[in-house]
Amino acid sequence: MNNSKLVFIGGGNMATSLVGGLCAAGVPASNITVVDPQAEQRARLAAEFPINTAAEASSELLAAADVVTLAVKPQILQSVCRGLAAQLADCETKPLVLSVAAGIRAGSIKRWLGGDVAIVRAMPNTPALIQAGATALVADAACKAEQKSLAEEIMRTAGLCVWVKDEADIDAVTAISGSGPAYFFLFIEALEAAGEKLGLEARTSRLLALQTAFGAARMALESDEDPAELRRKVTSPGGTTEQAILSFENNQLRALVEAATQAAATRSLELANQLGNDALPNGDTGEAS
Ligand SMILES: NC(=O)c1ccc[n+]([C@@H]2O[C@H](COP(=O)([O-])OP(=O)(O)OC[C@H]3O[C@@H](n4cnc5c(N)ncnc54)[C@H](OP(=O)(O)O)[C@@H]3O)[C@@H](O)[C@H]2O)c1
Repeated sequence: MNNSKLVFIGGGNMATSLVGGLCAAGVPASNITVVDPQAEQRARLAAEFPINTAAEASSELLAAADVVTLAVKPQILQSVCRGLAAQLADCETKPLVLSVAAGIRAGSIKRWLGGDVAIVRAMPNTPALIQAGATALVADAACKAEQKSLAEEIMRTAGLCVWVKDEADIDAVTAISGSGPAYFFLFIEALEAAGEKLGLEARTSRLLALQTAFGAARMALESDEDPAELRRKVTSPGGTTEQAILSFENNQLRALVEAATQAAATRSLELANQLGNDALPNGDTGEAS
């Protein structure tokens, strides 16, 4: 990856995190270019990392790139891609396109870019901003093995990466890891509030809830045993944990989690259908008449 030329379209939160991870991993900053129309955004990035920045993507920039990462908001991705299509058409060797945009299928992106381009779609989550993300990746049929490796190396700088074979699985990924940080925040909130009800000071209760979530996740990640076994090991017969676990089970925690993730997956599918629609928000199709 160190010799690869990497271009980012959009220089916001996700691009900043990936650029930071890449620089920390030893990728020469001179091989990285971030394209963002906002001068302040470019200045902020250039002050933080000695990378190249540009207000727009030229054909020369895209032609020299190995990977072009699309890191703009999903709502504007269609118009951004349609804007890049002409420059890409001029490229003799086309770069791999890596999209981190939530909810937009590779097929839509490919169509907006004019087709004839290899695409890896990534679904990261918010902890990617602190290099602790969980990202699922899916490659379209046009991707070569070395392009898949390159995409994975880029996304690995933001945390764990897994590949899924079928893009339809991305709706499930969205429901588990994409939206997942919010589920854990909710559980931490609830645990903190419960601690207060039991008489703890708010700050004490929050710290205990946070460190317990962190410690449990780290222990489960580092252990060879599965989470169910780890749970059994800390649930002594007749003890306190057993009472709490019994209460969770009797109150259908598992069914609640199943219903919540099903609702998220269904919404992910609906949003992909909406966002992948070729009509731009103003009703324009984006095609020259
Ligand atoms: N942040 C997360 O935790 C997270 C998690 C999973 C997936 N993602 C995905 O990552 C993508 C980027 O999210 P983000 O949080 O990094 O968004 P962001 O902070 O808003 O960054 C997007 C950047 O793109 C710029 N931009 C707008 N139009 C552009 C254009 N035509 N060409 C180039 N750049 C343009 C924006 O400028 P303006 O501000 O002026 O519009 C902004 O600086 C999204 O698609 C999102 O779904 C993010």
